[in-house]
Amino acid sequence: MSQKASPDNGLIALNLWLFGYGSLIWRPDIDYIERRPAKIHGWTRRFWQGSHDHRGVPDSPGRVVTLVPDPGEYCHGMAYLVDQSVAESTFSQLDHREKNGYERHSVALHFLEDDTSTMGLVYIASQNNHAFLGPAPLAEMVRQIRVSAGPSGRNIDYLLALADALRRLDAEDSHVFELEAAVKDFES
Ligand code: SIN
Repeated sequence: MSQKASPDNGLIALNLWLFGYGSLIWRPDIDYIERRPAKIHGWTRRFWQGSHDHRGVPDSPGRVVTLVPDPGEYCHGMAYLVDQSVAESTFSQLDHREKNGYERHSVALHFLEDDTSTMGLVYIASQNNHAFLGPAPLAEMVRQIRVSAGPSGRNIDYLLALADALRRLDAEDSHVFELEAAVKDFES
């Protein structure tokens, strides 16, 4: 978290960092002061969360990413600094967007550019949530991603946009890139 003096009342206000590792990397749709490539330790990104409201529908959920604990791993993403004055409205907008099983967690962020750290918030859908799908064979995940679509668009576009965003960040993620390659095999 970062602190700044408020010119109005002299009180110390808190700006909040948000860490995004899925659609929040390429489509944050929030107001932010700055954004910085970052990573978090002890988590890995997996297409193990069901999407009934964005990339699928209740009868035919898509697959989107969540984080699962992995002590030896880092997950790369994008951190956004949200001004304290809009933090409440911004996080209530994000709570709505991530309502299908995600909860806010506090996490240590490590900025890639200068190797400094700070605390921030991240949305994680744990394995106890109602929409959690968990692991599946690659072919099954590919099939589900290819056929699913919802109010936010095709599931396949979510996967391809995430893979592109990770490449732009220079981030390695064999799980995402393996799914991307398998999906593209079908499309060609
Ligand atoms: C995130 O992007 O940080 C959460 C998962 C998603 O909305 O795709």
